[in-house]
Amino acid sequence: MNEIAVIGAGTMGAGIAQLAAKCGCVVHLVDVNGDVLAGGIDAIAKRFARSVEKGRMSEADRDAAMDRIKPASAIGDLDSVELAIEAVVENMDVKHKVFAQLENATPKSAILASNTSSLSVSKIAESVGDPSRVVGMHFFNPAPVMPLVEVIAGTESAPASIDFAFQAAKSWGKVPVRAKDTPGFIVNRVARGFYLEALRLLGEGVAGIDEIDQVMKTHGGFRMGPFELMDLVGLDVNLAVSTSVWQQMNKHPRFTPHEIQQSLVEAGHLGRKTGRGFYSYEKEHPLAAFPVSRQSFEVNPKLGDVLNAFCTRSGVASAGSTEQYVFARILCAILNEAGLAWGARVATSDDIDIAMQKGTNYPKGPLAWADEIGGRNVRGALRGLNDVVGDGRYEPAKIFAEAD
Ligand SMILES: NC(=O)c1ccc[n+]([C@@H]2O[C@H](COP(=O)([O-])OP(=O)(O)OC[C@H]3O[C@@H](n4cnc5c(N)ncnc54)[C@H](O)[C@@H]3O)[C@@H](O)[C@H]2O)c1
Repeated sequence: MNEIAVIGAGTMGAGIAQLAAKCGCVVHLVDVNGDVLAGGIDAIAKRFARSVEKGRMSEADRDAAMDRIKPASAIGDLDSVELAIEAVVENMDVKHKVFAQLENATPKSAILASNTSSLSVSKIAESVGDPSRVVGMHFFNPAPVMPLVEVIAGTESAPASIDFAFQAAKSWGKVPVRAKDTPGFIVNRVARGFYLEALRLLGEGVAGIDEIDQVMKTHGGFRMGPFELMDLVGLDVNLAVSTSVWQQMNKHPRFTPHEIQQSLVEAGHLGRKTGRGFYSYEKEHPLAAFPVSRQSFEVNPKLGDVLNAFCTRSGVASAGSTEQYVFARILCAILNEAGLAWGARVATSDDIDIAMQKGTNYPKGPLAWADEIGGRNVRGALRGLNDVVGDGRYEPAKIFAEAD
């Protein structure tokens, strides 16, 4: 591919432009905000400079890549682009305006992609006369580094448009997966339980912020705990995704946003970027920003048995009972959501597993993980938890309900 456009030069747009320019594409980088545009170009130049310093890029390649980036303050004539990727603010009206402009500015053969995290690609395509050209290309932050791209098929997307986006991502060294246009696609749906169950455990007084993070890292092999990850992503960004998925999923209790997170966002404690979120970053080592209001809790013998079987098969046999409970609550939520997404044909089982490993660094694909633990053990733990939580959020996915 020779020439593309990226609309929006913020966090994601600048990252995507950097990636494509490095891979040899001429990139028209458009942002209506001159400061953001200049900041985006500056950020790319700094990241390239670091690559040169580390010997990963020659100075000549850096200069050539920078030359290929053509900044612009408005969508002008884009008559040579083969692909336009929209990465403007997450707002349907703004995206509609941008897509209507892109349709006029680009050749009819060009593919129009949105980097939306949580809006419907099919709805975005409604502002375009020929929606068969529109697809989702969901990159992950930081776009030059994270390998995954979810390629989303809207209801009207042409198979050739999907294939084009898939091949474009591959040609830039990414790992693309295909997903249906459903709330949160793969990663932002399947990952919700990791955050939300952790918040619920904290809210119920079962364990503290650092204890829950430690359990998931030590016993689950996750690179970061749920609270560390929310602090890194930004509590506001994470909450916005949870709220959007929850609303689009008819407010199912699996996705209910948590009041602890809502009040931290209201207080402006957004995570690392504000110096405080679930952790405080004032000292050299992050410290839990507030203690758990610990409550005693009991696991009835029946639930204890099924959780023990689940944990033993997960390699967590030696953990204490509270640790096992924390681990099982969080991992069961993830595995079940992966099963539900597979059942809803959001993606193939391979693509679900690849997406969770490459988009959010999970140590294993959740469906392969469930196979390892055994469908019957997963079902037992899900049913046991569902009996005690009372809101139906652990109702087993069909794949587990019918496991032999
Ligand atoms: N930040 C993330 O972690 C992340 C990850 C994946 C996907 N996304 C999605 O990517 C998109 C962009 O997110 P971001 O974090 O880069 O946002 P951002 O706020 O950093 O950047 C958005 C940019 O769009 C520009 N913009 C607004 N209207 C425009 C228009 N009409 N024409 C040109 N530019 C316009 C704004 O000036 C702003 O600079 C959103 O849809 C978001 O959901 C974000």
